[in-house]
Amino acid sequence: MKVGILTGGGDCPGLNAVVRKGVQEYGYGFVGFRDVWRGPLEGDTVRLDIPAVRGILPRGGTVLGSSRTNPLQHEHGIRRIRENLAKLGVEALITIGGEDTLGVATRLADEYGVPCVGVPKTIDNDLSATDYTFGFDTAVSIATEAIDRLHTTAESHMRVLVVEVMGRHAGWIALHSGLAGGANVILIPEQRFDTEQVCAWVTSRFRASYAPIVVVAEGAMPRDGDMVLKDETLDSYGHVRLSGVGEWPAKEIEKRTGKEARTTVLGHVQRGGTPSAFDRWLATLPHCLDGVGGPPPDCTPSTACATATSARWSPCAARTSTASRSPRPRPG
Ligand code: F6P
Repeated sequence: MKVGILTGGGDCPGLNAVVRKGVQEYGYGFVGFRDVWRGPLEGDTVRLDIPAVRGILPRGGTVLGSSRTNPLQHEHGIRRIRENLAKLGVEALITIGGEDTLGVATRLADEYGVPCVGVPKTIDNDLSATDYTFGFDTAVSIATEAIDRLHTTAESHMRVLVVEVMGRHAGWIALHSGLAGGANVILIPEQRFDTEQVCAWVTSRFRASYAPIVVVAEGAMPRDGDMVLKDETLDSYGHVRLSGVGEWPAKEIEKRTGKEARTTVLGHVQRGGTPSAFDRWLATLPHCLDGVGGPPPDCTPSTACATATSARWSPCAARTSTASRSPRPRPG
């Protein structure tokens, strides 16, 4: 069988394991599609055999490239994908990505019968049917390290440091890195924040002779206002670019407490670099292949193999949901 693989978003430690297991255990052939959906749309492929994936496990980024191409927005997009898959002799697609990539895979599978298996990979950890998506642990580690560093400089200047982290409309990165990094305030999209309360927490931290760190998820919203956006243009999936919210609490804190406040936006640094050991481990459970056509894995569903089991939602259909599980609100 020939299987196509594409990867959305950033780091992709799973590729290596999928290809190795597929070739060695199942005798499958693989072809990589470039830039997520642009590859199958335009028939743009990359050789994907064992030598091609050798040594990429610790590498960040994705060797297949990424883009925001949405095939459902293209005229005859689905027909072109089907034709290209047929021309290449590709019988199934393994789609590795987050909400957007897997959302398209779900529609291709359910509505148009294109055989897809989804593998949940996103730093946002905002997909249903899995406890952890790979990419998330790496992002949390990077954000935690940044918070650790910010503590020391905040203490030296006795100022408030606001750290904006990614996560789209989910507060997982903020919550995990904020708790791990000992932040004093954590603002998440799942619960609108009360600016007066934030200022009270900041003031109490100063009273204890420490400088406060405020972690704010990019999708967080004040109780008495709207989402703060720098740029209101939409991408091809209809999403606004979130980023810039961190400036707002900093300004309000300065105004209301008289304390100096600065903002650090971590941005894409959270998606870069080498994946953490946990993400590599999670991604190296290549059970998505069993969804393609192999036997069911001998594995008891658990947190440890949640990613793998969710990749087997059904043999030929990716399922994902934008209605994510939400972290319990935990500011302060
Ligand atoms: O979904 C992953 C993510 O990094 C979000 O946390 C963030 O809002 C978005 O992608 C950024 O997208 P882009 O790379 O297009 O700026």
